[in-house]
Amino acid sequence: MTKRIVVVASGRGSNFQAIIGALQRGSILAECVALVTDNPKAYAIERAEAAGIPVVVVDYASFATRELYEQALLAALKKARPDLVILAGYMRILGLAIVREYAGRMINIHPALLPSFTGLHAQRQALLHGVKLTGCTVHFVDESLDGGPIILQRCVRVMDDDDEDTLANRILIQEHLALPEAVRLFCEDRLSIEGRKVRTR
Ligand code: GRF
Repeated sequence: MTKRIVVVASGRGSNFQAIIGALQRGSILAECVALVTDNPKAYAIERAEAAGIPVVVVDYASFATRELYEQALLAALKKARPDLVILAGYMRILGLAIVREYAGRMINIHPALLPSFTGLHAQRQALLHGVKLTGCTVHFVDESLDGGPIILQRCVRVMDDDDEDTLANRILIQEHLALPEAVRLFCEDRLSIEGRKVRTR
């Protein structure tokens, strides 16, 4: 059966665009039933509108507490009845209730080769550490920070003259390949989680 996917994004949405492209080309067989965003100014909203994808804004700033925001976000997700939730540049840490609700059905893209450089500014962390290779990781979301079972990774060489922007841009090219590929594998029921490992059929 065709999977229902929901994308959660906070900003630019270039990874979301890569998914839209793969859906339009037919390389992912799924229906994107909503873009959910915490940011009413996210450029991802324009991308959704251009592609005819419904937008749900759960404006973080309009809630008195983080708990109320999380409740509203969970309600918005449930309403969309997703088979898969894709965090594509969602810039907040998700609350436990949401992580538990979508265990094994929620994936995230991170701009480093996990488990290195978790959290914010992964590209800057890689430069400061002096690694020669970095990249991106698509993983299932669990209760740890960027620590869930890894679906796939792609490598990027770090150049001597890289700054944060040049490195982030080269990683982004790989993100745009990795994320749609992981979504495709999920939608074809080809992923299974065995402990820390994800097996691909
Ligand atoms: C990407 O680098 C992603 O890995 C990170 O945030 C960035 C989002 O970019 N989590 P975009 O909004 O998809 O263009």
